[in-house]
Amino acid sequence: MPLPAKPKKLIIAIDGPAGAGKSTVAKLLALQMKFLYIDTGAMYRALTLKAIRKGINFSQGRQLTGLAKKTRIDLENKPDGTIRVLLDREDVSLDIRKPNISKFVSDTAKVPGVRKEMLMRQRELGSKVSCVLDGRDIGTAVFPDADKKFFLDADLKERVRRRHKELKENGQDVSLEDVQKDLCNRDTIDSSRKCAPLKQAKDAIYIDTTKMTIEGTVKVLLEHIKLSTQRGAV
Ligand code: CDP
Repeated sequence: MPLPAKPKKLIIAIDGPAGAGKSTVAKLLALQMKFLYIDTGAMYRALTLKAIRKGINFSQGRQLTGLAKKTRIDLENKPDGTIRVLLDREDVSLDIRKPNISKFVSDTAKVPGVRKEMLMRQRELGSKVSCVLDGRDIGTAVFPDADKKFFLDADLKERVRRRHKELKENGQDVSLEDVQKDLCNRDTIDSSRKCAPLKQAKDAIYIDTTKMTIEGTVKVLLEHIKLSTQRGAV
């Protein structure tokens, strides 16, 4: 009797600007599909935290690249769907979400040597099992052959509102104005950098989540994936 066909390993790429809901949606989608969730932004954030601690100047690309090469970053998926980010084995899951990291992370992420190192690690992580990755360049650079690509977007005002709420819930005292400044600053640097800028892959499905709930967005993504699977397109 022939063996049942082995399920195909799938890669789902979710890109988009800051605060569009990517990580919440990606996390839930991965949980529902029993896929590994890879938060690529957390890797750049962890490296930024280490650079700040070491007093590295963010204009020093070579130093940041050197630091990236010798830094261990682990992303652990916990059974409840949350993730733990370990920087050289230290749990920095909360520290990397603080405003001082957000302020400098795009400067770290625009360094080509840093990106090269992170891309290698992200490909390695995604090479073994089915996974959902979220970031800025997943569908364009890290996994250009991803089985399904999404580009999540939302109006600036709504993205600011969501990020502000999230930070407040985590006990951080920030104003709406500061959140808006941070998102705009990062969007500008991320979209205009030379190496793997934030942009929609040609074959990505664009979803405006401004008026959508998290659950509603996850449902839409699941339907697209299901349709492609039924059609044998992935
Ligand atoms: O969650 P949020 O949208 O605020 O950002 P994030 O996913 O935590 O990513 C933080 C920063 O890392 C981004 O603003 C980018 O500068 C950088 N990043 C990147 O360049 N490429 C990725 N694949 C993921 C993040």
